Amino acid sequence: MKADEVLVDKGRFVSKLRPVVGQSTLTLNGEENRKRRAVLHSVFAKGVAQRFVPEMSSAIRETAIYASRQSEVSAHDLTAPLALRMICIAMFGKDVLSRGDERAIVEAVRLVESDLADDLFRVLPLPPWKARARWRKRELARRMIDAVVARVRAQAASSTAVGALINLGLTDVEIRDEIVTMLLAGHHTTGSAAAWILYYLGTVPGLADELAEEAEASSDDAGELRPDILPRASKSLAFVREVLRLYPSAHWFSRDVRTDITVRNIPLKTGDSLIFCPWQLHRDEHYWSEPHKFDLTRNFTGKAYLPFGAGPRVCIGMGLANLELQLLALEMAAAFSISVKSAVPAPLPTPSVTLVPPDIRLSLKVREPWEKSIALPEEPMQVRAAS
Ligand code: HEM
Repeated sequence: MKADEVLVDKGRFVSKLRPVVGQSTLTLNGEENRKRRAVLHSVFAKGVAQRFVPEMSSAIRETAIYASRQSEVSAHDLTAPLALRMICIAMFGKDVLSRGDERAIVEAVRLVESDLADDLFRVLPLPPWKARARWRKRELARRMIDAVVARVRAQAASSTAVGALINLGLTDVEIRDEIVTMLLAGHHTTGSAAAWILYYLGTVPGLADELAEEAEASSDDAGELRPDILPRASKSLAFVREVLRLYPSAHWFSRDVRTDITVRNIPLKTGDSLIFCPWQLHRDEHYWSEPHKFDLTRNFTGKAYLPFGAGPRVCIGMGLANLELQLLALEMAAAFSISVKSAVPAPLPTPSVTLVPPDIRLSLKVREPWEKSIALPEEPMQVRAAS
């Protein structure tokens, strides 16, 4: 995984996504990939993404308040749209997208995501009429995002991902393909992990109270989380790490061997595909004691822990995703109490493109003393959780 691209590259599975995401950070190799990663890193890296904390926190609260007015909600139906919203914040910046633009983006994602598992795992070619229908769907999604890019191009600050990509000299088509890539890569990965965060907050006795205390200690006088303190908020960091160990939403990723090599005495031939499975690694008794147990006191140093991959193609959204999950844990613990209404322990997730969580049903209540000061927001973006 950490090897140079001359020895291994991202492989044939990822190249099957070219009709969906075009030539983007996910599918490009070599110098162009490195250039785009450097630019995106300058926005998504954890220390940098912290500038979005106020907007991200308020998006979490808005979604949770809305959910608290329902008798019961599905965790993933709540967290998957929230994940898209967070990516929009980091891609476009504050107040750049109108509600209409956001809805267009959500609808475009839904259009391309509905066939994603089939795009990746299909062995035989599609019959021509189905291929044409799929192409039309993708074209529609592209046009919807193109229209948003054309509208917001002039407003995206260089501190946002879209602004940074514009400064790099990317065309509108290349920028659109990057936007689709980031939305697809960050949607159900972060959304699924976030659903498990809510599940554990609702089921582990005392956890929400401990995190509420940490949230209070990490907040300013107005009750807003302080970005500079979050990297030291150790309880929430350990919580996110353990959730991603037990439920690594990107439960597989791949590489192809480009030249005959031997790794740890295993001879690999040019063209061999390697599939890495964090789910299996994270639950291997050889590396972890009681691997199936949720345990916030684990030591992760030197362990087989790869929720975001590793090496030159490690997840570019890692900083943003970790921050989002930490904020979710702290904001929810501080202001809401969660009860899980579905089976505990929850059933196993379903493996697909990502690891799809089971239908975790929640009921949310606003905690005192927040109750009186919170107004019902406009209905947040809704998108049914797919793969
Ligand atoms: C909990 C959430 C997430 C998880 C578990 C996750 C996991 C992963 C994994 C395992 C890879 C493959 C790494 C490798 O091949 O070594 C990856 C790649 C990638 N991720 Fe994430 N990801 C998450 C969130 C995000 C977000 C929020 C974004 C964007 C905003 C994103 C963008 C990407 C991109 C663009 C790549 C491809 C990078 C490249 O090939 O150079 N991810 N992610």
